[in-house]
Amino acid sequence: MQKYSRIISTGSYLPQKILTNKDLENMVDTSHEWIIERTGIESRHIASECESSVDMAYNASLIAMKNAGLNSNDIDMIVVATTTPERKFPSTAVLLQNRLKNNSAFAFDLNAACTGFIYALDVADTYIKNEVVNNVLVVGTEKITSLLDWSDRNTCVLFGDGAGAALLSSSEIPGIISNTIGSDGTYKDLLTVNTDREVIEMSGNDVFKIAVNTMGKLASETLAKNNMTVESIDWLIPHQANSRIINAVARKINLPEEKIIMTVKTHGNTSAASIPLALDHANSNNLIKKNDIIMFEAFGAGFTWGSTLLKY
Ligand code: UT7
Repeated sequence: MQKYSRIISTGSYLPQKILTNKDLENMVDTSHEWIIERTGIESRHIASECESSVDMAYNASLIAMKNAGLNSNDIDMIVVATTTPERKFPSTAVLLQNRLKNNSAFAFDLNAACTGFIYALDVADTYIKNEVVNNVLVVGTEKITSLLDWSDRNTCVLFGDGAGAALLSSSEIPGIISNTIGSDGTYKDLLTVNTDREVIEMSGNDVFKIAVNTMGKLASETLAKNNMTVESIDWLIPHQANSRIINAVARKINLPEEKIIMTVKTHGNTSAASIPLALDHANSNNLIKKNDIIMFEAFGAGFTWGSTLLKY
């Protein structure tokens, strides 16, 4: 019998500290009006000095495990998508495994920038479909504000911290219907953290245009590949970088706005954590029903991109 992966539960964590656009007005030459109009962001959460991507991942994972009724040792694979690991090594996933007191899984990190969660889902899905594992904890966690130059208004207003977790389990019914991932290193310098400066540098307007075109095309291709039309989609859960990007993509594929889960207003861009955070937000607010068809879509540094189509 063919095996599929199902998302059986989600969890998320957002740091306590909230930084508003008004707060940013006191830090750089910007305004609440500019940020809201250009990005849709009103506020974002900021991790404290002593809070790491592992701490946030741990909190999100505990909720996902509780929601699924699974114990730590029921998990046989842990994949963490992050660009802001607590240490160079061991990986965030292994540090998370230790915190969860899990001794039955293999664990590793994956970096595909803002597309990391989609890449991690693809890897988890492949292991489940090949019957290597049964239960996978997939986490997107970012202390992305640790990579900000707080004097650069082009970038410091855009990002926020947080973590989202999803538990995937083997099932005889889908589940994940299809994954598509891609990358193109030609654009490596348009959005980057160089090791000499260790801060995010972005050519925002170029990234914006390529993100809209790539995500629009990807959404159409994902539907066509699965013989579906946009009417089949109950929810689009896109990477949350900018509400203008998300709305432009939705317009390209004729998806009504009310089918989009939008959390960028209060989360900002949380990189690899943005989709699992938005998914858990939708779940916690009872927006998603069983058997809903959902599309995840992301675009990030590299460039990288990816989509997941699934039946909830
Ligand atoms: O997560 C992975 C991918 N990342 C993204 O998807 C981000 C993609 N990019 C964006 O979201 C947008 O390009 C931004 C929000 C970063 C910028 O919006 P934009 O409409 O593309 O503006 P722009 O870069 O063309 O800049 C317009 C003006 C510039 O001033 P001049 O040169 O026209 O005088 C900027 O200096 O806005 C200025 N500006 C600001 N003004 C006030 C840039 N940042 C700010 C700011 N406050 N924070």
